[in-house]
Amino acid sequence: LVEGAKAAFASAADADALEAARVEYVGAKAGKLKAAQKGMGSVDKGDKPAAGKKFNEVKGLVEAAFAAAQERLAGSATKGEQEAFDATEPGDPLRLGRLHPITQTIAEMRDIMGRLGFTAVEGPEIEDDWHNFVALNIPETHPARDPLDNFYLSTASGLAAGDSDDNALLLRSQTSTVQIRVMEDCIAGVASGDGPPPVRIISLGRVYRPDTADATHYPMFHQIEGLLIDKGVTMADLKSVLRLFCQSFYQMGEGQGSEDIHVRFRPSFFPFTEPSVEVDINWQGGWMEIGGAGMVDPNVLRAVGYDPEEVTGFAFGLGVERIAMRRHNITDIRALYENDVRFLEQF
Ligand code: PHE
Repeated sequence: LVEGAKAAFASAADADALEAARVEYVGAKAGKLKAAQKGMGSVDKGDKPAAGKKFNEVKGLVEAAFAAAQERLAGSATKGEQEAFDATEPGDPLRLGRLHPITQTIAEMRDIMGRLGFTAVEGPEIEDDWHNFVALNIPETHPARDPLDNFYLSTASGLAAGDSDDNALLLRSQTSTVQIRVMEDCIAGVASGDGPPPVRIISLGRVYRPDTADATHYPMFHQIEGLLIDKGVTMADLKSVLRLFCQSFYQMGEGQGSEDIHVRFRPSFFPFTEPSVEVDINWQGGWMEIGGAGMVDPNVLRAVGYDPEEVTGFAFGLGVERIAMRRHNITDIRALYENDVRFLEQF
């Protein structure tokens, strides 16, 4: 009986065959094991203990053989499943990357300013003293030129920090450098006899300052610089453009309606603008400073070759991170640069 059962179970090629074998050997009604059990009734009383023991042994072996066959078939069934290709399965979703929140912000800003007629231009991140300071009317003695407040590249130029040379190289500390480059290029392109052309540009990019990182400071951040030079440009134009810019930007976000956005100017000082203002926008019942602005200083216009009697202009420089943090309620600037996907995936 045991040998027969073992052979039948072992040779069962699929679940149906195994079930047929099970009915034949261990079936509750007509199985061979059942028949053997029934046969126990005719065994002599004295032989019963030994026969019972033998029966249990046989029963155990048959059941074990069945269990083994079951396992064998279950194993090959999963193997079969693995190999089968089910075209109706939904499949594993691809993990898509996404643009960094600052990259998204920059794209939106460029888009908004483009609609206001400003062309986006780029400038180098490695700058010289002339474009970062001198042409911007920032004198040698100005605290902003302190070597400790700037990333000078002493090896690249052979010049050390503090060397008084317009060619000393540094990582730009502000995007106002681009104002100078654009105006220089404009003037250089003027054919003699033509008046110098109007300028209407923005520049978005990284700037560097050796600040200790905390919730609101990071040694690298982004600025959006704007410059408009034309005949009869006034402070009112500056304020209108900044208000439209801020309203459009926050309207694109989920948060506040554009009618709730207000821009405030506070008197300030920058060597390259006169008058100068700090720009605030309303935020949670108070004001948040987003950058500086003003009317381009006549000294700057003169330094690049414009005639301040002919044209005027405004310039502004705003912190991109600040503006983005307000939009997304990000409370720590460092979160933007830790490259934690769980954080970045939210935007
Ligand atoms: N460059 C200034 C800064 O980084 C901001 C500014 C830009 C101010 C243009 C006035 C005009 O702080």
